[in-house]
Amino acid sequence: LGSVVDPCSSQTYALNDKAGLGRVFDGIGGLSGGGATSRLLVNYAEPYRSQILDYLFKPNFGASLHILKVEIGGDSQTTDGTEPSHMHYESDENYFRGYEWWLMKEAKRRNPNVTLIGLPWAFPGWVGHGKNWPYDFPDITAAYVVNWILGAKQYHDLDIQYVGIWNERNFDSKYIKVLRNTLDKLGLTGVGIIAADGDWSIANSMIADPHLNDSVEVIGAHYPGTTTVKEAVKTQKKLWSSEDYSTFNDEVGGGCWARILNQNYVNGNMTATISWNLVASYYEDLPFGRDGLMTAEEPWSGNYVVESPIWITAHTTQFTQPGWTYLQTVGHLAQGGSYVALTDGTGNLTVVIETMTHDHSVCIRPPLPPFNVTSQNATFQLQGSFASIKELQVWRSQFNFKTKKPSFFEKLTPLKLVDGSFTLNLAEDEVYTLTTITTGQKGSYPDPPPSARFPKVYKDNFDIRNPPFSEAPDFADQTGVFEYYINLTDPGPHVFTLRQVLTERPVTWAADADQTISVIGDYQWHDLTVTCDVFMESVKTGGVFIAARVDKGGQSIRSANGVFFWVFADGTYKVTNDLAGQTVLAEGQSGTRAYGWHTLSLTVKGQYALGQLNGYPLWKNAVVLTPKNGWAAIGTRSFELAQFDNFAVVAG
Ligand code: GAL
Repeated sequence: LGSVVDPCSSQTYALNDKAGLGRVFDGIGGLSGGGATSRLLVNYAEPYRSQILDYLFKPNFGASLHILKVEIGGDSQTTDGTEPSHMHYESDENYFRGYEWWLMKEAKRRNPNVTLIGLPWAFPGWVGHGKNWPYDFPDITAAYVVNWILGAKQYHDLDIQYVGIWNERNFDSKYIKVLRNTLDKLGLTGVGIIAADGDWSIANSMIADPHLNDSVEVIGAHYPGTTTVKEAVKTQKKLWSSEDYSTFNDEVGGGCWARILNQNYVNGNMTATISWNLVASYYEDLPFGRDGLMTAEEPWSGNYVVESPIWITAHTTQFTQPGWTYLQTVGHLAQGGSYVALTDGTGNLTVVIETMTHDHSVCIRPPLPPFNVTSQNATFQLQGSFASIKELQVWRSQFNFKTKKPSFFEKLTPLKLVDGSFTLNLAEDEVYTLTTITTGQKGSYPDPPPSARFPKVYKDNFDIRNPPFSEAPDFADQTGVFEYYINLTDPGPHVFTLRQVLTERPVTWAADADQTISVIGDYQWHDLTVTCDVFMESVKTGGVFIAARVDKGGQSIRSANGVFFWVFADGTYKVTNDLAGQTVLAEGQSGTRAYGWHTLSLTVKGQYALGQLNGYPLWKNAVVLTPKNGWAAIGTRSFELAQFDNFAVVAG
């Protein structure tokens, strides 16, 4: 058993630019959105929020990312929540919703050269004119997307460099051409189109259609498993892995990231790789918990974790820039693993080597075919314009899976080159950077506060005149959009509220519920009281709820169970075991009406639930066998306007 290793197995690799260079490097990036993956980040107190952003974007510090790709919010569920659109309604425009604008500005503040990309997953309902399809009116869809680009510039001075089509859904050649035309007409000729953020198949259409080919600047594939197809190469376009990774960010996640960052170029000619997601800042019990370069999912405690993918990213990002060029002399190592080399064209050289073994570098998808990596000696011979390099800086990560004592991004003694060559003793599961660049740095801050559960007593009265964000802290919208609202005409205490603002179903990306819902709190909560003032704005047909033990979110939101206490504008109430409202635990008369405030209170204890209306018992002893735990929530019966105020939870 075990592989037979010749510890002296040794091979020489030339690093040479004599026969010309390879492709131009476009950078390594992170993706915020697709969807709501940065939701909790914005609620961190300083200095922790800035520290997290520094680990992501600050040059010569941490991941030092070259690219930030964001979702163009489409009001719809796009994996871990909904992100608000800049145009909820056809006549509506607002470029201050959500947190992506803020995030782009923070990234740019740290790295003025950061490349910004926008991509829609979903669209407001009006864009589809009643169909769950955004391409029947290509001019409308193009204008909608281009408005977002114009708004970025006008209101935030952000230059968006690339825009995409429709994430992992069909592309439409006509629409892509219309989008190109619309951009050009407005002078946005510098904004490149990435297509189609799915598989490589658009390459065939581009070969068959020169006009489409001219419209597309980058072919972006998702989770390509480090390989491309010959048609894509034939287009001579830039090839990117425009979404990749999505792997739990433990050490195997770091190993996945190390392997694909190198091999996306070595095997697939891809010159950019973008991680879904940038930072895991959403409730961990939502789908794909912790699939980010680092973890920041506790704004209430301030705790965050700089995970291994941050330091693996640094191995490339701190020693290259977009615009550098890969050498042609890149490839696989004789005993497994890979190496890439890049130059700035003025004598600088960066070499990144990875020896990740199969089982320590599996990504979420696609399946990883078997391969072997064993320890080896590798000699690199610098030739061409690199022959005269005398010294290289050395940065090393060792995953040390056996001892479970990894060491990441460690600066070793610089290597003196003898006759332009150096030899490394490579073990399994290592990453090396050898570089002429001397500015590398392993950034650090004092440890953040310790991890803590969501507070058991939580209140929000939404009384804030100029909120920094459109969404209230810690609420994670799963269908619909809940925004701060000011009721100028309210005579009483409800001037500042939270309002569900969608009035029609969006052009969806996932299976949004037929109801709207925003979840909050600790997924482990079981016994608790949720209280909230509610205000329906749909006469007769209106309905709102508060809920406890909500057990699902993300793409599974339609089938969420829990304890849902509904009141309706027709004067009735209901208690259901599910968001869909199929399993009724209690029902009756409530006297509730639209355009009046009502206070709902729901208490769940063990197997029993009870509800109060305006401080008086309305129902009790409803039997709740499952779910045993879950988030608290608020929401509406349909896509309808409704307001919420004085939300409070007391959990046991
Ligand atoms: C991708 C999608 C992302 C996210 C991810 C999870 O296909 O574009 O939004 O859902 O999968 O792995």
